[in-house]
Amino acid sequence: MGVMHNAGFEPCVGAARVSLPTVARAGQSSNVDDDGRQVVMVLPGRGRGRGREGELPSQMLHRRVVFSTAFIAKMAASLKSYDSKDPLVKYTADHSLRFTEAQKNLMELTFKLPKYYMLGAPEVLQLNANLIRTMGGKKVLDVGVYTGASALSAALALPPDGEVHALDLTDENVNLGRKFWSEDGVADKIHVHIGPATDTLQQFIDEGQAGTFDFAFIDADKPNFDRYYEQCLVLVRRGGIIAFDNTVLNGRVLDPDDQKPDAVAVRKLNKKLRDDQRIYLSFLKIGDGLSLCFIK
Ligand SMILES: C[S@@+](CC[C@H](N)C(=O)[O-])C[C@H]1O[C@@H](n2cnc3c(N)ncnc32)[C@H](O)[C@@H]1O
Repeated sequence: MGVMHNAGFEPCVGAARVSLPTVARAGQSSNVDDDGRQVVMVLPGRGRGRGREGELPSQMLHRRVVFSTAFIAKMAASLKSYDSKDPLVKYTADHSLRFTEAQKNLMELTFKLPKYYMLGAPEVLQLNANLIRTMGGKKVLDVGVYTGASALSAALALPPDGEVHALDLTDENVNLGRKFWSEDGVADKIHVHIGPATDTLQQFIDEGQAGTFDFAFIDADKPNFDRYYEQCLVLVRRGGIIAFDNTVLNGRVLDPDDQKPDAVAVRKLNKKLRDDQRIYLSFLKIGDGLSLCFIK
């Protein structure tokens, strides 16, 4: 069993240029000002003889450094194991990931695509599968299919009569995955629905499928996250799980200057989930952030 860690490509994410351990050592305190634009960190003094020229020892004790929140966001980014340089992320991946040959080959194929980074974090896909298995899930929603790695992972966790309903706007990339679904003998369990996912989910509701799904993995366009949430709250049964991927958005949730629609939508969803009494919530710093909503 191999791990899909940095498999044959150069990680392209610049977030790890400043290592997190350095930040953790230096950051004794921090705060964001009213408009959230700056973070002041008080660094501990560096000791006798190592201060700036003309600096008194007492001045060396505490040095105020101002970082932009964009910088902090980059430092804090949580990355998928295949893009992370964090040795603990690599260690946990090396000591946990278990995939079939077909799953590994599908991921390898995906890594060769220009948008390889859309592949779900392997550790998230495995966690989803373990949750589905443990809860005895039979019917799963996979919103955002891409090359089909999350759908395959879910299908492998289902009993023979289980169903994954896999929703995507286009079948262009989905078709790349079908061969691997067949190799693992689960192609019959995966039902692909092409079109805007909000329409497909509404169609499921209109058809009377409310409360019949056990698990939903939401990994498509962020501006629709809230609509997917409300629709999945109808479709997934009580005690079921709605899992949102990318809920730290590569650290961008921390940067208030980032007002792109995806960042705004994810921040809004995170606040909503925090306060939503319809669910129990776990917000995990795994992959690019995974929010697990356990429906009451
Ligand atoms: C991040 S990828 C999904 C990755 C996949 N879950 C995996 O683990 O490998 C996001 C997918 O969402 C699809 N998508 C984007 N907007 C959509 C929409 N409005 N409706 C349905 N699918 C959409 C894209 O075509 C893309 O394939």
